[in-house]
Amino acid sequence: MDGQIQSTRQRPILAILTYADEKRIFRGNQENFIDLIRAGEERGVLVYVMTTADFKLRGKQAIGYKYRASTKSWKRELLPLPNVIYNRIPYRKFEALPEVQQVIQTCMRHREVKFFNPSFFNKWTLFEWLNKSRRTKPYIPETKRLSSSDDIDKLLQAYPSLYLKPIRGKAGKGIMKVSRTEGKSKPRQFELSIQDKTESHISRYPSVTQLWSQVRELVGSKDYIVQQGIVLSSYKRRPFDLRVLVQKNYRGAWTITGIGARLAGKLSITTHVPRGGSIDNPRKLLTHAFGQAESKRIIRSAKRAALIIAKHVESSSGQTLGEMSMDLGVDSDGHIWLFEVNSKPMKFDEPPIRQKSLENLIRYSIFLSQKNGL
Ligand SMILES: Nc1ncnc2c1ncn2[C@@H]1O[C@H](COP(=O)(O)OP(=O)(O)O)[C@@H](O)[C@H]1O
Ligand SMILES: [Mg+2]
Repeated sequence: MDGQIQSTRQRPILAILTYADEKRIFRGNQENFIDLIRAGEERGVLVYVMTTADFKLRGKQAIGYKYRASTKSWKRELLPLPNVIYNRIPYRKFEALPEVQQVIQTCMRHREVKFFNPSFFNKWTLFEWLNKSRRTKPYIPETKRLSSSDDIDKLLQAYPSLYLKPIRGKAGKGIMKVSRTEGKSKPRQFELSIQDKTESHISRYPSVTQLWSQVRELVGSKDYIVQQGIVLSSYKRRPFDLRVLVQKNYRGAWTITGIGARLAGKLSITTHVPRGGSIDNPRKLLTHAFGQAESKRIIRSAKRAALIIAKHVESSSGQTLGEMSMDLGVDSDGHIWLFEVNSKPMKFDEPPIRQKSLENLIRYSIFLSQKNGL
């Protein structure tokens, strides 16, 4: 018995932090948590779930939830203090709550516990960070905060299409696309595409001012950015982009876990799967668009870009980060563009990426648990 307690104390302990409310025992993707618990078991790491609702991190104990595979249920217990906490609070609206902020602060300040990925990123801050560096700037489409029709007007003079995106957006919600069209005999027109569930709807306006009154109504009080539209490479007339998972490894160094591709739905302005998009193989799509040799080069440069961006995001944020995912676009010249960086990567459904991502999280947690100091 004694020996057992000893070994429990010595093996690294990883807690997954999430939000809990009356709706469910806790929020977030439980399947994801269970997979990570299993991956931990394989490497001798105890993994459990902690919630912001019954959060306790005092003395030598914490309240956590262990998973029982035999009954497919969770058991709340007093558990030994974790060495490492992985933040998976699933929505910005939860993260913003004062009681959740307090938990996050406690985790960040704790002397013995290492806490990684403390917050969501916001799209505007990201672009400010990445625009400052000579190394990351080439990947950033021109971006401004949206405040008046002037912002649209000016950018439309430089680019034929623009993307309007909520600063705290996710999964394509609230995204709009604006384009100017000019036929030979037709007068200039402005088009507004709005992404609905799985389709986009187009409306047309004779002037930017008229388009703006519609945009303003849709934007409401939310903060938006307006961004140079990139003409994405496409496959059978469906544009695609690349989803890259970047994680730290067992030595705490950034590595590429994998690259997936998302093909836009036929009627969509984004590539999100819930909006009619589908998963595909990046090499196949790129080879179809650019040929074999060029496709290899593009994948290599996408990986290089993702690593440069990850390092820069980490140093600008001043936070401890263990993983992030990126949406990268490839234009018709094969140039790589960054659309966003996500600090709460969604589950990658490609099995090899999935497997490796769990392993990396466990190995990085072991690394953190052995690291001295903050
Ligand atoms: N500037 C842009 N040019 C072309 N396509 C874009 C642009 N910005 C976004 N998109 C498309 O919309 C998708 C969603 O944009 P993103 O910034 O990732 O927002 P979200 O947080 O909603 O996922 C991208 O994956 C890409 O397909
Ligand atoms: Mg995205």
